[in-house]
Amino acid sequence: MCGIVGYIGKNNATPFLIDGLRALEYRGYDSAGIYVVSAGTIKRAGKVEELAKSVPEGFSGTAGIAHTRWATHGLPTELNAHPHADESETVWLVHNGIIENYAELRDALSAKGVRFRTETDTEALVALIASKYDAKTPLEEAVRAALAEVRGTYGIVVASVREPEKLVAARFGSPLMLGIGTDGYYIASDATPILKHTREVVYLDDGEMVIVTREGYDVRTREHEPVKKTVETLEWDVEAVQKKGHEHFMLKEIMEVPEVIENSMRGRLVPDEGTANLGGLRDVLPRVKRAKRIIITGCGSAYYAGLVGELLIEELAGIPVEVEIASELRYRRPTMNPEDAVLIAISQSGETLDTLEAIKEAKRHGMLTLGIVNVVGSTIARETDAGVYNHAGPEIGVASTKAFVSQLTVLSLIGLLLGRADSLSATDGSAFVRELAALPEHARTVLSRAAHIEALAKRYASMEDALFLGRKFQSPIAYEGALKLKEISYVHAEGYPAGEMKHGPIALIEPAFPSVVLAPRDSLYEKTKSNIQEIRARSGKVIAVTTDGSEEELAQVADDVIAVPKTHEALLPILTTIPLQLFAYYVAKERGLPIDKPRNLAKSVTVE
Ligand code: G6P
Repeated sequence: MCGIVGYIGKNNATPFLIDGLRALEYRGYDSAGIYVVSAGTIKRAGKVEELAKSVPEGFSGTAGIAHTRWATHGLPTELNAHPHADESETVWLVHNGIIENYAELRDALSAKGVRFRTETDTEALVALIASKYDAKTPLEEAVRAALAEVRGTYGIVVASVREPEKLVAARFGSPLMLGIGTDGYYIASDATPILKHTREVVYLDDGEMVIVTREGYDVRTREHEPVKKTVETLEWDVEAVQKKGHEHFMLKEIMEVPEVIENSMRGRLVPDEGTANLGGLRDVLPRVKRAKRIIITGCGSAYYAGLVGELLIEELAGIPVEVEIASELRYRRPTMNPEDAVLIAISQSGETLDTLEAIKEAKRHGMLTLGIVNVVGSTIARETDAGVYNHAGPEIGVASTKAFVSQLTVLSLIGLLLGRADSLSATDGSAFVRELAALPEHARTVLSRAAHIEALAKRYASMEDALFLGRKFQSPIAYEGALKLKEISYVHAEGYPAGEMKHGPIALIEPAFPSVVLAPRDSLYEKTKSNIQEIRARSGKVIAVTTDGSEEELAQVADDVIAVPKTHEALLPILTTIPLQLFAYYVAKERGLPIDKPRNLAKSVTVE
């Protein structure tokens, strides 16, 4: 997804802008560009490093903007890369989001004689700003007038040759923040580029713009009303976003899982009462407890976490739960009484557009909306009525790992809390709390077996297909295991409820098509074991993931066995997902693939 950085201050802007683009690379992009006031512009298709190499000595100035682009309108070429300028190259703009009415704007401007160089929606926007920017109009006025005619989403930073002492940034549907440093002001679409320079930030809200000069900043609404913003302190430090000595962020992040589970539970377990204390839900709890229906939504791994959440809440609290992929939910006809229903949106980044739109749709119908979000201050965190933060720390690897585990952990806490409000006894609640508290140690045990999983992954690394199976709490983990493998190793993988295998996937089974079967000793162990036997009867290879104590029994029917410690059935997904993450990681590593940035994927998907 696109990324934005900007700087105005006492220093040369170029080093920060290039470094800032590097920090944003994890979001996924296909071209990059930089504009520095009084130096000019450079753009490149491909990697930020290509751009960095093209920056000549002396390319400097004390204000500038830069961008990583992920193509939506127009190919990922140098020409289409940002910053874009108007025809006279007076106004320069970087833009995240999509201008929906760009074709109309373009036609209207063309009719007035404006000529365009690219097919991009962004060029239409910069041309529109320039058309409002006559000699008497300050830049912010031109930006404001242009934005009033725009439909769509944007996070923009605008610079002008005529007013080199200012940058104007505005936001609607695409995140932007302002970092306040001692030597100047930093603008970025997320915190990673800013962290090295300052921790003091101001988050722009939708419909706000900020005029930044070397002397200060002024936040306004689109109607020019002044807005008083609070300066917030970023909690994550640069250290946290480094790899900590691991070869890839993904491995580093899997290794952090025990700590992440601890952090997601910190201060939230109430052993004496056998419940959870979730401060972010306190004000809305009566309404959540009254809910006749809960709808969980999200995309990718967050959606699969939601499927585990459905079982957790239904089992522990008896509230009917429906889980829907956000891009589908947002276009469905609402059929429930909004007073009786609660929406829980799950999103690591807090910026996924489909999830955000599903939330807005639910809000329009008067539903209470809750977020399970990792990025503090992100759009979804602010758009929802209440919520629970994951506290998983920054996740850089594109394929979600530790954030997924923390989503499961938070959902367990919500399940417990709602369960105690229903018929879950204090004794059962306390037993559940004890199992939760033991999870970090269990996760460490799983990680201590990484070498075994690595050896196994090496043996299977040449496979071209794989089937992942599980039942009940393990079926969403089968889907997630398959997703992880295909995301980073490009192996075709399918996740299925084990009982459904006989209705189709069984036709694929042959010696070169292995199955990973989640068979912990839970309430459906015997049935899952039968599925393993069905695969073996058709000469299919099986890797079984089970719980300690069942390895020998399963070794008789499976080719390979991985074991995780025993825990409550509803918490087992937290443990069984770890070996599948490691398996996918080591397979991808054996295949020599770019694990942290797989082809075609983006960390945070802020377009539809
Ligand atoms: C992208 C990422 C996935 C992630 C999904 C949802 O597809 O590659 O890892 O699960 O988006 O992201 P979110 O930030 O909303 O959890």
